[in-house]
Amino acid sequence: MDGVVDEVEEVHEKTIKAGEILKQVKEEVRSLVKPNTKLLEIAEFVENRIRELGAEPAFPCNISINSDAAHFTPKKDDDRFFKEGDIVKLDIGAHIDGIIADTAITIDLGDNGDLVLAAEKALESAINEVYAGADTSAIGEVIEKEIRDMGFKPVINLTGHGLLPYLAHAPPTILNYRTNRGVKLEEGMIIAIEPFATTGVGKVSERGETEIYSVVAKRPVRMKQEREILKEVKKYKTLPFAKRWLKKAPNIIMNKLVREGILRSYPVLAEIEKGLVSQAEHTVIVEENGAKIVT
Ligand code: CO
Repeated sequence: MDGVVDEVEEVHEKTIKAGEILKQVKEEVRSLVKPNTKLLEIAEFVENRIRELGAEPAFPCNISINSDAAHFTPKKDDDRFFKEGDIVKLDIGAHIDGIIADTAITIDLGDNGDLVLAAEKALESAINEVYAGADTSAIGEVIEKEIRDMGFKPVINLTGHGLLPYLAHAPPTILNYRTNRGVKLEEGMIIAIEPFATTGVGKVSERGETEIYSVVAKRPVRMKQEREILKEVKKYKTLPFAKRWLKKAPNIIMNKLVREGILRSYPVLAEIEKGLVSQAEHTVIVEENGAKIVT
């Protein structure tokens, strides 16, 4: 049994180290996000700093602006800039040997301080509900309450999640609203809690643009271009990667790999009524009487 204990210890240690790296990257990047800075510059800064500090990006740096909520990352040679008034979510992940820490912050370049605070307060209250034996429905309930109390709506179809080696979205699903379908948290579980608050109706849908993919099945392919892409992305295992990280990734081939069930695509998710969206996220380890925040 000691072997199992050691293994759990090792996973927790790597989670904590990945979390420390993310803490530092968050601190460094915060002041760099400002009007007229390129989105690509920020994404590359985050990903390179994670590598320099001794981890690997667990997924491409997500930069979701205004009504975008998730899964946006710049494309190769992207020339878009941050603008005055933008509300910017940075969702960043680091992994060490597949062991992941995941965190997000919102940077307000306008006048949406209350919206940012709603997600932050919801996260803080949610973490206070975490202990071994706690029900995830209690977490969803406080998230919804904090956000509604500030006059906003939680985004109901984006969720917190468990973290397992090489799996950025593992069970349990942690809803951002009250439900009676909760599950019990167990001691030692690693979970990411990520409330989203919005001025819209509280729902996101795909808006078309796709830059992030992951491998979901291994299957032989006939085309040389497909084989080359699969060879290049093998090192990411089951973790998401960005199209811009690849030497060549024509849309026609990426779409074919998605149709064949080999790749999964992560289209950008935006609030359906174009409401502004804020997000806050921490990775925590469930402890007997509470939670250890690692990010
Ligand atoms: Co997450």
